[in-house]
Amino acid sequence: MHNHIHPLNAAFQGKLRVGATLGVKTLLGEDDLSEGLARHHFDAFTAENSMKPESLQPREGHFTFAQSDRLMELAAQSGAKVVGHALVWHQQTPEWFFQDTTGQPASSEVVFQRLRTHISTVVGRYRKRVHEWDVLNEVISDQHDEFLRPNIWLDAVGEAYIAEAFRTAQAADPHATLIYNNYDIESRVKHGKTLRFLKSLLDAGVPVHAVGIQGHWDLADPTLATIETAIENFAALGLQVKITELDVSVLPGRHEADLAALQGYETKLDPFPHGLPGEVAQQQAERYRELFALFLKHRDTVDRVTLWGVHDGSSWLNDFPIRGRTNYPLLFDRAGKPKAAFHAIRNLALEKEPSFISAQGAQTGNVLPAFA
Ligand code: GLA
Repeated sequence: MHNHIHPLNAAFQGKLRVGATLGVKTLLGEDDLSEGLARHHFDAFTAENSMKPESLQPREGHFTFAQSDRLMELAAQSGAKVVGHALVWHQQTPEWFFQDTTGQPASSEVVFQRLRTHISTVVGRYRKRVHEWDVLNEVISDQHDEFLRPNIWLDAVGEAYIAEAFRTAQAADPHATLIYNNYDIESRVKHGKTLRFLKSLLDAGVPVHAVGIQGHWDLADPTLATIETAIENFAALGLQVKITELDVSVLPGRHEADLAALQGYETKLDPFPHGLPGEVAQQQAERYRELFALFLKHRDTVDRVTLWGVHDGSSWLNDFPIRGRTNYPLLFDRAGKPKAAFHAIRNLALEKEPSFISAQGAQTGNVLPAFA
C-alpha cells in the first residue's frame, strides 16, 4: 500500500472533488489494493457495476443491496460522497422489466410502474446518503441522422419514460443532484443533439440538474477546445457539468485498431504488453494535466471529476473495444504506484495560480455544428 503518499483529494480540496469507481471485487472485500487507494486518494465513490438495475433488482421485487450498502459504509468511513450509477439504461437491465409472465412484451402501464418502483425503492433507500444520481444513461444516438438511440425503453413505453425517470427520482429524494450521463456528448455528432435534448427537458420543467460527460478519452481526442466549448454550452443552459467516467487510453481506438487489423498489423493493436514506455507515460501525464487545468478553470461549472477505475490493472479498457490488451488509462499502475499522470495533476492542484493553457491555442480539428 502506498498510503504514505500525500492524498490526491487533499491537493484538490476546495477546488474540485476527485472520485473513482469501486468494482464488484472491492465491494466484496476482495481487492485491498483498490480499496486502500480509493479510501486514501478519492472523495467521491461510484459503483462500477453494483448499482446498475441488473445488480440491484435481478428479479422483480428481489432487491440485492449488499454491495451498494458496503459502498455507503466505505464512503462514510472515508468521508467520500456517493454517486449513484445508474437508474435507467438500455444495458445491464434485466429483461423482466419489459416482459409479462409468458415472456411477451409487457404493457406500457406495467413497464412504467416497474420503472417507478425501481427508482423510488433505490433512491428512497439511499436518500441523503447518495448525493448525486446518474438518472439516465446514454439516450442520444451516435448516428448523424438519428436523434434518440433506439432502445428497449422507447419500444416499451415511448419517450415519456425519460421525464418520468427524473420526476420519480426527485420525488424520492428532493435534495439529490440529478444527472443525465453519456459519452461523446462533447463531440461533433452528439453535442448539438444533447443540447437540444436537455433544453427541451428543462423547458418542460423536468428536474435535470447536471450533465455527465463520461470522458472516455485518449491522448489526443477530443481536443481541449471541443471539451471547453461543451462545458460552456452546458453551463449556458444552467446545468452543472460532472466528468463522470474519465480515463485516458494509450492504445489504438476501435477505428484505428480495425484499420491496423485489416492491414495485418496485429501487434500494433497491443503495443505495450510489457509496460508503458516512459515517453508515453509523459504524454499521458501532460494530457491529464491539460484536462485538469481546464476543469479547474471551469470549476464554477465542473465540481466533480471521477476516474473510471482505480488502477490500470482493473480498467475495463483492458477488454474494450478489444479483449485482452494491456492498457494504462488511470493514475495508478498495476501495483498501485502513482504514475506520472498522478504527479502531474497533483502538482497542478497545489500550484497557487494554476497556469491555464488556452484551449483556443490548442489544435482544433472539430468545428461544432450550429444548433437551434
Ligand atoms: C458506460 C457506462 C458505465 C460502464 C462503462 C464501461 O460508460 O456508463 O457504467 O459500463 O460504459 O465499463
